[in-house]
Amino acid sequence: MRIGPVAVAHPITLAPMEEHTSFPFRIVCKQLGASLVCGERVDACDVARRDRRALKLLHTAPTERPSVGQISGNDPQVMVDAARVVAEQGFSIVDLNFECPIRRLIGRGEGGALMADPSAIARLVEAVVRAVDIPVTIKIRSGPDAERETAVEIAQLAEQAGAAAVDVHARSVAQSYVGGPDWSVVARVKQAVRIPVLGSGGVREAVDAVRFLKETGADGVAIGRGCLGNPWIFQQARSLVTGGAMIAPPNISERARILLQLVAGEFDFYGNHLALRRLPRVACYFAKALPDFAAFRTAVQKIKNEHEFKRLVREHFVA
Ligand SMILES: Cc1cc2nc3c(=O)[nH]c(=O)nc-3n(C[C@H](O)[C@H](O)[C@H](O)COP(=O)(O)O)c2cc1C
Repeated sequence: MRIGPVAVAHPITLAPMEEHTSFPFRIVCKQLGASLVCGERVDACDVARRDRRALKLLHTAPTERPSVGQISGNDPQVMVDAARVVAEQGFSIVDLNFECPIRRLIGRGEGGALMADPSAIARLVEAVVRAVDIPVTIKIRSGPDAERETAVEIAQLAEQAGAAAVDVHARSVAQSYVGGPDWSVVARVKQAVRIPVLGSGGVREAVDAVRFLKETGADGVAIGRGCLGNPWIFQQARSLVTGGAMIAPPNISERARILLQLVAGEFDFYGNHLALRRLPRVACYFAKALPDFAAFRTAVQKIKNEHEFKRLVREHFVA
């Protein structure tokens, strides 16, 4: 698949997830087979005024290319300014978020609120496409709610406005993250546009990714919650979609190796204080299958530094 001039090696990609798809996590996903990785949504206002925290979220490096930086907002000039920053940071693609269901954003008429206003999305896409040299993509849902499906109309308007790809989360905004996705909306969008279509929703195992691509005809699948604690899903799914065999799940020492890499990466990137706030949750996803998961979960809350964190992982992830 090509997104504008950006070549994407195969259809298995990482979906953006707030609080999860940090720079160190994206590197792990890339290493384990994701073709394209996307950072979490950042408020365009914060990006445009170069807020320190926003720029940290929008950190990238050549090792994760091709990479996607995502922004949300509803003011064309602010979106333009923010998209320029995303390009400057070194991302290969800038993605505009029109899908986020959180109340604060909806209240401001941003994110998923825009699924009810296709022409506003078209105006935003047009403005950003004119302003930056990197491809502009959009992330949408099926529509505002079960009664109104606006995805096809929005995808077509965005294509006319110059969007290079569209990524459809196959749930409505009203559904938030609850309930089954309806993959058929991805198929309808794919039929309606010529630009690449990616989609997400409900891919928990590698075989689901294969089924998603087959049933929707999409050019790519973005894996969300299915990769939390299981970034090996990318190499498994890549193998299956490229005609290879099913790769066995990782053994415990491989699980420990990758978690230790992630722990080191998060302490390095965020520093002690922030890493300790973020990592217990991340580590618990990796530890879920351990026989002494409950003990791990209790112990991980009491960790004070990187050294203790690594020791705890080594103690619990043993064959
Ligand atoms: C915790 C969490 C945070 C998310 N944050 C974002 C985000 O920042 N930007 C975005 O476009 N989608 C976000 N999503 C949606 C995912 O990218 C993806 O579309 C969705 O999770 C797919 O469904 P699945 O988790 O059922 O596979 C988030 C999802 C979750 C679960």
